[in-house]
Amino acid sequence: MSGRALSPLDRLLAESQRALDTVLGDPPASRANPGRDQAEVELDETERRHAAGLMRINHVGEVCAQALYVGQAAVARDAVTREHLLEAAQEETDHLAWCAQRLRELDSRPSLLNPVWYAGSYAIGVLAGLRGDGWNLGFVVETERQVEAHLEEHLQTLPEADLRSRAILETMKADEARHADNAEHAGARVLPAPIPSVMAAASRLMKAVAYRL
Ligand SMILES: [Fe+2]
Ligand SMILES: [Fe+2]
Repeated sequence: MSGRALSPLDRLLAESQRALDTVLGDPPASRANPGRDQAEVELDETERRHAAGLMRINHVGEVCAQALYVGQAAVARDAVTREHLLEAAQEETDHLAWCAQRLRELDSRPSLLNPVWYAGSYAIGVLAGLRGDGWNLGFVVETERQVEAHLEEHLQTLPEADLRSRAILETMKADEARHADNAEHAGARVLPAPIPSVMAAASRLMKAVAYRL
């Protein structure tokens, strides 16, 4: 990082680049794929489709997490909170890359609606961010806890033979739990009703669509 303060235009360009990388590109992971040491086991067609549906949902979840954090960081008032959010987004890049790799191995593809998921989550991030920094972190905690819960659900329903996807999801689940703990320690406020249930409903809708599309 240079010491130069970024102008609004610099920031807009950097954020557009990041959005394009997330939605269209294949941003590189900084850690090795946790599934790489697991043997690739032949799945039957039903299992392969199911595993791909689940990994597509997880990929969309990571697109949304990135967009949410980048959106919140764009309007965060406090530099430490902004750093915290951008760091969290950075760690999600590994998850995004691992899910994309696994989708390719499963002969599948990411969601066609990724630009829509990104834009919607970015907007939610900006709105949350405008409420102030305790809220920002509260959204991080709620998002991470919800992702952690659906990863657990996927671990239960994933085809037993799919050890590669399983290794990825287990590492992600541990990371998300740590992200939530960090945000809690950094001063997150507990989001009031009905925000957590609205977020849960939005994520149920996303899961139903992303499984197929
Ligand atoms: Fe993640
Ligand atoms: Fe996370």
